[in-house]
Amino acid sequence: MLTQSSTVASQVDAAFYFIVGVSTLLLVAITGLMSYFVIRYNHKRNPTPTDIEGNTWLEVLWTVIPLAIVMVMFYYGFLGYRTMRNVPQDAMAVKVTAMMWRWSFAYENGLQTDVLRVPLGKPVKVLLRSNDVIHSFYVPAFRIKKDVVPGKENVAWFEPTSLGEFDLMCAEYCGVDHSKMLSKVIVMPEAEFTRWYKSKAPSLAASATSTPAAAKPMEAEKADPLVAEGAALANRNGCFACHSRDGTKLTGPTFKGLFGREVTVLVGGKPKTVVADEAYVRKSIAAPEAEIVKGFQPRMSPPKLTDKETTALLAYLKTLK
Ligand code: CUA
Repeated sequence: MLTQSSTVASQVDAAFYFIVGVSTLLLVAITGLMSYFVIRYNHKRNPTPTDIEGNTWLEVLWTVIPLAIVMVMFYYGFLGYRTMRNVPQDAMAVKVTAMMWRWSFAYENGLQTDVLRVPLGKPVKVLLRSNDVIHSFYVPAFRIKKDVVPGKENVAWFEPTSLGEFDLMCAEYCGVDHSKMLSKVIVMPEAEFTRWYKSKAPSLAASATSTPAAAKPMEAEKADPLVAEGAALANRNGCFACHSRDGTKLTGPTFKGLFGREVTVLVGGKPKTVVADEAYVRKSIAAPEAEIVKGFQPRMSPPKLTDKETTALLAYLKTLK
C-alpha cells in the first residue's frame, strides 16, 4: 500500500478499498455460484429441462441491492470530491506550468523552481497551466491528479501530512518524452520552508533531480552574469529537455557547438544550407517552425522571452562549444 501523505489521501483510499472490496466479494460469489450451478444442474442429473417462470421478489432484490451498493460507492467518492473541490481560503498559491516535457513552479514572491517545495501541514493550491498540449499533474502519495489543459487554468490543492520527497509526474500522454516529465514535491518543516522561501534563491542544485544533466554551473557562467542569466533561462524554459549540451541527439538539435555550425534546414520542404549565426538562432527561438533542421520534427513552442532575455540566452548558447 502506498503511504498516505496528504489530508485527502485517506478519503480517496476509503472509496478505492470499498470498491475493490465489493468487486472482490462479487467476483467470488458469482464465480462460486456459477460453478455450483454448472454441477448441480448438469444435463446428466436433469435429463428433462424445467420451465422456470420469473420471480418478482428476486428481481426487485437484485435491482435494489446493487443500487444501494453503487450509491454507497458514490457517497464515498463524493465525500472525497467535495474535499478536493473546496480549496481552503488560506491556501498558499503556486503557479504550475506544464510544458513538453517538464514542470515549472512559480511562487507569489517571484521565486521559480523546477521542484515543488511546500511546507508541512499547510494547504497548497496549485494553479495549473499548460504551454502547449494537455498534461496531467499527478502526485500519487497525495492522491491528487488533475489535467493541465492549454487555454484553461485548472486548480487542485493538497495539504501534505508527512515530510520527505514525493514523485510528481505527468499522467497524460503528451509526446515522445512524456515518461521523462518527472519532478518532485519536497515537503519541508515550516520553519525551514520559510527560510528557503525568503532566501529567494531558486535552488539550481534541486534541478539535478529532474534533469540530471542540468545544474552544475560552467566556468563561463560564473564569470559572466549575462551568461549565467541565459543558463538559468534555458533551464527554466525547459530547453534542455530537447536540446542536449553534450552532442546527444534528443528531440531537437544539440546546443553543443551550435554557433557557426552549418545546418541544413527545410524551407517549405526544400533543403537549404545556412550558418547558425546570431540572426538565425534568434529567429529559431522566436519562430521555431519557420526553418526546421533536417532530420527533426517541428515540436517546439516558442518560449516567451523578452529581447533582453533572448540576448542572455544567446550569450549562454555561445559558450557551449
Ligand atoms: Cu506531459 Cu505527459
